[in-house]
Order: sequence, then structure tokens, then C-alpha cells
Amino acid sequence: MKKFIDLRSDTVTKPSEGMRKAMYEAEVGDDVYKEDPTANELEEYAAELLGKEAALFVPSGVMGNQICLNVLTSPGDEVICEKDAHIFQYESGSPAMLSGLQLSLVEGDKKGIFTATQIEPLIRPSSAYYMARTRVIEIENTHNRAGGTINPVENIQEIFRLAKKYNLFMHLDGARIWNAYVETGISPAKYASYFDSVSCCLSKGLGAPIGSIIAGSKEFIKEAYRVRKAWGGGMRQVGIIAAAGLYALKNNIERLKEDHQKAKLLAYNLSQLKTVNIDLELVQTNIVMFSLVNMKAEDFILKCKDRGLLLGTGKVGVIRAVTHMDVTMQEIEKACKIIEDILTE
Ligand SMILES: Cc1ncc(COP(=O)(O)O)c(C=O)c1O
Repeated sequence: MKKFIDLRSDTVTKPSEGMRKAMYEAEVGDDVYKEDPTANELEEYAAELLGKEAALFVPSGVMGNQICLNVLTSPGDEVICEKDAHIFQYESGSPAMLSGLQLSLVEGDKKGIFTATQIEPLIRPSSAYYMARTRVIEIENTHNRAGGTINPVENIQEIFRLAKKYNLFMHLDGARIWNAYVETGISPAKYASYFDSVSCCLSKGLGAPIGSIIAGSKEFIKEAYRVRKAWGGGMRQVGIIAAAGLYALKNNIERLKEDHQKAKLLAYNLSQLKTVNIDLELVQTNIVMFSLVNMKAEDFILKCKDRGLLLGTGKVGVIRAVTHMDVTMQEIEKACKIIEDILTE
């Protein structure tokens, strides 16, 4: 089989030897009875890492976000989020489908970041019974569709103060919060401290095959546990995959820095090509977004595929490359060469 350099997403990683060994050796039990020791250990470990009272292992990032929103709201409530937020763009309309929510979209800056000042006017007065009830402010950090950008903690603090003032909940889509941490040195727990609920992925840059963690207060997780079951997410001998998640949290966080270096190398090389539009300021973690002056993104992606390089798309006309643990620095150099050849022939 042809070996591709696969930069479509950091979700394409496969479990490493060490991770597979941990999975093989995992002690298991029935997690619906809360008797799976490995899942219990993962949840305790993750809760501590995120500085929360409790955590819950869920099958996917989408389910994580949606359980959190469901627990924090009632049907007819409104969630404020950025217009390119994953919960709006890529979760199949599930805030409406599963929880009867409407989203109030805010246009962030080029990094997908909105400010407290910007959203204060969107918070609906509690006396306005004829309006949707503003209930949650959602922040995605890092911001996928903006290119893996990091939301500055000072900005999050301001939004947190606003949420307190208006008695609103805060939800963090921290699918890639680990990437923000390795880049800024600000711990996942510090980021999470501004939020009532957080959802973090194990199956992206951390390399686990499946799963996400949600975390919050004990009371919050108790309710989340009920919703997970109701939505068919109660799993049985789940220690097999929880072991991979635990391994990922213990071994694969710090190494994300290497993925950022690979992204920077790729981005720098792209910036040297005349027909590439790229904003290096947006390349803060493991995602590189760029567009082309004289070629359609789809045509370019096909040409790259023919030469063994897989790329994805972001916003319309934008090409997306994501670095991860299953791609080496040498492969990134090779990818740069493939791109240069296509664009200069
Ligand atoms: C920011 C963000 N949130 C949530 C998700 C959803 O994760 P999953 O694909 O595991 O459902 C993703 C997936 O790419 C994501 O990038």
C-alpha cells in the first residue's frame, strides 16, 4: 500500500506500540456499573489534570461538547459562541437537535477570538421573557477553524467576569487545550478554572484511537453521566480504550511541542512561495491554513494526493495541513518539496 504523508488532521494518528500494550494489559469491568478500574482511573487522573472535582470519559469530542451544553441549559436557551466554532460548524446541528438550543454567533477577529466588550450587548435581559434566555458562553481553545489559534488567558478572564456578572455558564471546547498548554505554559487546569464545563479530546494530537474527557463539578458530572447513558454513550468494558486515553495523557502531552515545530517549518516554507497566501501569525500550534493565488484548493489537493501528500480543507478555498505524531520532520520537508514542485511547474 502506498504510504501517504497524511496531514489532513491530527485525528489520523494510530496507537503507538506503548499505547497498544497499555490497552492489551488494561484491567476492565462493566463501566455502566462504574466497575471498570481503568476508566475510573482515567477519569480521576483527568479530573486532577483539569483541576475539576470530577470527569467522565465519552466516546467523542462532539458528544463531550453536546453533553456539557445539554447539562448547562434547558430547551429554548441560547449559547453565545464564535461564528466558526466547532459546535456551530461541525456538529451536525446537534445543539438544536439534541438540546433545543439556539446559538448566538459572534464574529471574532482573524484568530477567532471575541472579547467581553463585544459580547456584552448580546446578553439578553433576564426580564425579556419573549426572548431566548442567554445561558452559556462557549469558547474554543485552540480554535480549529481559525487555524489552531490560542485564546489569551487574560481575554478568557474578562469573559469569565462578564459571565459571573450576568450569571451565565462558561463551556470550554478544549479539544486541543493540550496544544495551548504546551505553547503557553499555562496549565490545562488554569484554563479550565474559568469554565463550568470542559471537553477535551484524547484522540487528536494525543494519539488515542477514541475518546474525550468532560470535566466539571461532581454535581455536573453526575448529570452528565445520566445524559451520556440516555444518548447511548454508556460503554461496558471500556478500559480497553480508556487505557489508551490514560497512556495519552501521561505520555503524549509534552511532545505536542514537536508538532508545533513541524507546523512552523511547513508554514515558513509555504510563506516563501510567491503564489501562497499564508498568515504566519495564525500558525501558533499544529494547524497550518493557506490559500493559493492561481489554483483552486480542490485541484491542488488532488495534485498533492497524486504525489503522496494528503491535505484537507478549512474555510471555503482554504487548504488545511495539520501536523501530528505520525508525521516526521523529514516527511514535512518532503511535503514542502511536493508543494513547491506543484506550484512552480
Ligand atoms: C475544536 C473541536 N471540537 C470538537 C471536535 C469533535 O471531536 P470528535 O471528532 O471526536 O467528535 C473537534 C474535532 O475535530 C474539534 O476540532
